[in-house]
Amino acid sequence: MRIIRSPAAMAAWSEGLRREGVTIGFVPTMGALHDGHRSLIRAARLGSDALVVSVFVNPTQFGPGEDLTRYPRSLARDRALCRRERADVCFEPTETAMYPKGYQTVVTVPEIARRWEGAVRPHHFQGVATVVTKLFGIVRPHFAWFGQKDYQQAMLVRQLVKDLNLGVKIIVRPTVREPDGLAMSSRNVRLSVEERAVAAMLYTSLQEGREAIRRGITNASAVQKAMASVIEQEPLLTTDYLAVCDPRTLEPLTRITSKAVLLGAVRVGSVRLIDNLVVSAPRKRRGKMVERISATWLPSPAPR
Ligand code: PAF
Repeated sequence: MRIIRSPAAMAAWSEGLRREGVTIGFVPTMGALHDGHRSLIRAARLGSDALVVSVFVNPTQFGPGEDLTRYPRSLARDRALCRRERADVCFEPTETAMYPKGYQTVVTVPEIARRWEGAVRPHHFQGVATVVTKLFGIVRPHFAWFGQKDYQQAMLVRQLVKDLNLGVKIIVRPTVREPDGLAMSSRNVRLSVEERAVAAMLYTSLQEGREAIRRGITNASAVQKAMASVIEQEPLLTTDYLAVCDPRTLEPLTRITSKAVLLGAVRVGSVRLIDNLVVSAPRKRRGKMVERISATWLPSPAPR
């Protein structure tokens, strides 16, 4: 596995392979790799001829007072994981290589970034959209893999690829969970023992919402209350939002008639956790509720 630090060298490597007709797969990360990343890297390894994993803690997606300086970093372990998973390149640009003096351009996807994560973290999605656009411009992948845990991010990336004609196919993989249901995240290592013990309640709350929908509750505010009742039991958890939304637009729903995405973000100590579940309302057949089989599902952006 090669370690490439310069964007110019990365672009030259990719350009050479593209000319030979080699398909390039890409997994962008901020490092501190875990089994969620591993599942993306494995899928990417199977789905492309050449595989690039980037490790770059992107400062522009952290707002003032957020956890940029405390964000976990484990470069040696990340490289070892990439090597074991047979990545061809670990791309590790420096901050000055990505944002040299005089850097000006930003990318925004205003509609998708308006709610939820974007409302709580106002600069976050502009930073994500900008760095992903830059990484795609450097790595020039044919395919890129993202995790469903960051549902809104995945939607935003799909939208920007479409709007800017970037020609990258975005593949979204299911969230990987700890045995108690906690969604894997690089930030989980910062949870204390006490915090870790209650962190999976976010997933429990989403499950509670899903069960309510499966029982036939179609009133979104009743489902939201069912989710909130779980979080309210635990004083260590503070809710940023718990929402029942249209999976294609992320607008809050009032009634759940087909699919919904349940979005949740809570704080435990200094750590923020986010998670989501996509749920199908049961169909009524001859007076009986019939549950729809719902695999993990993430829609393409709604047509305009
Ligand atoms: O999901 C992440 O780890 C980051 O937001 C990403 C996509 C690598 C951009 O910095």
